[in-house]
Order: sequence, then structure tokens, then C-alpha cells
Amino acid sequence: MPAIVLVGAQWGDEGKGKATDLLGSRVDYVVKFNGGNNAGHTVVIDDEKYALHLLPSGILTPSCTPVIGNGVVVDLSVLFDELAGLDARGIDTSKLVISADAHVIAPYNRTLDKVTERFLGSRRIGTTGRGIGPTYADKMNRIGIRVQDLFDEGILRQKVEGALELKNQVLAKIYNRRAVTVDEVVEELIEHRDALRPMVADTGLLLSKALDDGKTVLLEAGQATLLDVDHGTYPFVTSSSATAGGACTGSGIPPTRIDRVVAILKAYTTRVGEGPFPTELLDDMGEHLRKTGGEYGTTTGRPRRCGWLDVVIGRYATRVNGVTDFVITKLDTLSGLDTVKVCVAYDVDGVRHDEMPMTQSEFHHAKPIYQDLPGWWEDISGCRTFEELPVNAQRYVETVEQMIGQRVSAVGVGPGRDEIISRHDLLEE
Ligand code: GDP
Ligand code: IMO
Ligand code: MG
Repeated sequence: MPAIVLVGAQWGDEGKGKATDLLGSRVDYVVKFNGGNNAGHTVVIDDEKYALHLLPSGILTPSCTPVIGNGVVVDLSVLFDELAGLDARGIDTSKLVISADAHVIAPYNRTLDKVTERFLGSRRIGTTGRGIGPTYADKMNRIGIRVQDLFDEGILRQKVEGALELKNQVLAKIYNRRAVTVDEVVEELIEHRDALRPMVADTGLLLSKALDDGKTVLLEAGQATLLDVDHGTYPFVTSSSATAGGACTGSGIPPTRIDRVVAILKAYTTRVGEGPFPTELLDDMGEHLRKTGGEYGTTTGRPRRCGWLDVVIGRYATRVNGVTDFVITKLDTLSGLDTVKVCVAYDVDGVRHDEMPMTQSEFHHAKPIYQDLPGWWEDISGCRTFEELPVNAQRYVETVEQMIGQRVSAVGVGPGRDEIISRHDLLEE
């Protein structure tokens, strides 16, 4: 099973980190292919909690080589802080490889992310403020700084000078902020250069050779399908390609080498930041899900908006990503309810939609059409086989499976590494 893509099916925080960690010991490489330190993955191993932002979740598995692909944007100070934090906890991080083509988050882009949001006021996106959007904008605008530029100081200075011609105008004239100097930017960017040098490689070549040698490569998405810049709820999205297609452009692995696409689907829905969310619960039930599921952001600590599962989104994720297997997470959070609702279609201004509406205006108007399913009261965190689950929990999973049109290969019943029910081996046919 050479290359497997793992994506989020909803608006992020589905439990991708835990799923990656679960597969970690059976794969040779885990590649982060998009996003940056806007991600927040919590992985729990033997009651120890690890919060990863920029590093691939595979870093917690000693046998696995973690790779930061070309599609990622790297904040160098966060990278070295995160590495130091793991080193202090006895995690060997020495295998990390970083693409020479990955872009770096320059300090002015962190500033611009924050001031742009303030400027937008009620039209803000609710970004993580990490400089992600402006850095990807620079990449597309061809004024970005890449990891490889750090090793040619003449080129680096030229590039920073070029970028600052525009950035300082924007900072000073539009946002009334202090202009920055080339020296201070270059100084910050090269601070960790010597430590970075041995980690940098042509990761596309490395991964291609690994696949030729029969190694297994897991491509792990940050963010999720509805946060994808093309396929998400634009403009309330992140600025990268978080769907399965992005795994190819963000790593250098061609589509013909991808064998399996695993999507992580939370048993209900959450969203952080602004934007439409048809099944959002603004009542006590929403608060119940937030409390029971511990739905507070790993990166910014913001309370996550919570709502019922939306299978229109599940079907959309199946289609856009070519999902072969779903992992349903946090089924345990739904224990203790008489009735569990699932959104099966939308009512948009009196018209029923079984698929995602074509336009965002329609999606903003979408009212959920629910199907009620009977709940269960048992604590399911100790269940390790599907048959051990209460009948109504089994029925919930089977109904969702049928509605989203692709098999559910595993079900999460708790945050711990072993708190999962496997139905089909994700690495076997
Ligand atoms: P990611 O961004 O997709 O990696 O997800 P996050 O780590 O941001 O959020 C998922 C949260 O759910 C984390 O705190 C996980 O430890 C936790 N989690 C993952 N799977 C399960 C599960 O099956 N049950 C419960 N109760 N928690 C889970
Ligand atoms: P993981 O990988 C949930 C959201 C932000 C905001 C929008 C744009 O943990 O699932 P950005 O800073 O990326 O420009 O913000 O995207 N967002 C996430 N929401 N999980 C994430 O990552 C997210 N990464 C970005 O809240 O609405
Ligand atoms: Mg997260």
C-alpha cells in the first residue's frame, strides 16, 4: 500500500492527528502537505497529551520519518520551539525533513494577517492570525521567500527588499503601522539557518524514491475539505489546498501513485472562525456538545461552534476527495442523548438540495432537513469491537455509512491511542 492520503471531511479538528498517530507505526513517512501552524492536532499517548501545530503527527512515532512538504508554509521560530518542546519530552525529532521549496512565514505577514482582520471588522474571516493567508498570497504573487533562499544571503536580501517595497507601503499607508527594515527581516529569517540546514532536502525526490523502494507514505492534510481554498466555503476558508488533490501538489507525489484516501469525519460538526454552518446549534445542545467533546481550539483556544452531523457535507467530501474509507471520530461524545439528529439535505428558500448548493449565497440560506435517529446512554469508551457498541450506536454508524456512500473503516470512542474500533484495516485492500 504505497501512498495514502488522510484528509478532514468537515471544517477541521476531526481528529486527523490521532488517526495519523494510529497509523504511524505502520508507515515509513508521514508528510504534511499544506497549511502551517494554523493547524492544531492533539494526540494522547498513555495519558500524555501532545499538541502539534506545524510538525506532522508522525513525529511522535520513532520508526517514521516526518516530512514537511513543499506545500507547507513554515514559521521558523514556531518550528524550533515545537522541536525543542518535543526534545524536552524525550521525543526524537532528528529524522525531520523539510522541503527546500516550502515557503517561510515572514514577520510582516504575521502582522498583516492580524491587521487585515481588524480592518475587515464584521467581514473578518476569523483567521488564526499566524500569517498563513498573506504568505500563500505572496507565493501566488511570486514574491514569497522559500526555505532554500535562506542559504543564499544575497538572494534572500534581494527577495526581502522586493517584498518590502510593497509591504511597507501597505503597512504604513493603509494600516498605519511601522515600516520594517530589510535587516531586521533578514536577521529573523536566518536566526536558525545553521540548525535548519541538515533538515532541508528535495522532498519530492526523496518520497518518489521511497515509493520506488516499496515504502509506505502517509500524506496528512491540515485543515479540511470545507476550509480548502477551492472547494471550501470561500471566502471563509484557509488559503491552501486541504483536499486530496493538494496532497499531490503539496508533496510532489503524482496522482497515479495514490492508492487510498481516508477521510476523518467527526460524529457531529464543529467549526472555528466565521462563515456559514447550517447545522450550528446556538442552544443548550450546542453547549452540551462543546462541553462533552471538549471543543476548544488547540491553536487559539477559541470555543468551537458545534452542531449536528451534516451528511450533505459527508457526501461532498466523498466526491471531492475520492474517499475510499471514513474514520468516524468522537462517537463517545454523542452518548447520553435520547435522539441524535443528522442533516440529510437542505431547504434553500423553499427548494430541497441533496447536494452542496452551487453558490455561497444559497449555502448561507441553507436550513437543515433532519432525520432523527435513536440515541444511546451507555459509556462506549471501553468498546473495542463494533458488536460491543449499543445497537443504536451501531445503527448510527451504519446509517451514516449508507448516507455518505463510502465505508466507515474505524470508529473513535475516546481520545487515547487505543480508544478506537477497527472494522477494516486502513492499510489493506
Ligand atoms: P485535528 O486537527 O483533526 O488533528 O483534530 P484536533 O486534535 O484539533 O481535535 C480533535 C480532538 O478530539 C483532540 O482533542 C483529540 O484528542 C480528540 N479525539 C480524537 N478522536 C477522538 C475520539 O474518538 N473521541 C474523543 N472523545 N476524542 C477524540
Ligand atoms: P486543523 O488542522 C479548524 C480556520 C480558522 C479560520 C480559517 C482561516 O487543526 O484541523 P487561517 O489562519 O488558516 O488563515 O484561518 O480557517 N482554520 C481552522 N479551523 N482547524 C484547523 O486546522 C484550522 N486551520 C485554520 O479558524 O476560520
Ligand atoms: Mg485541530
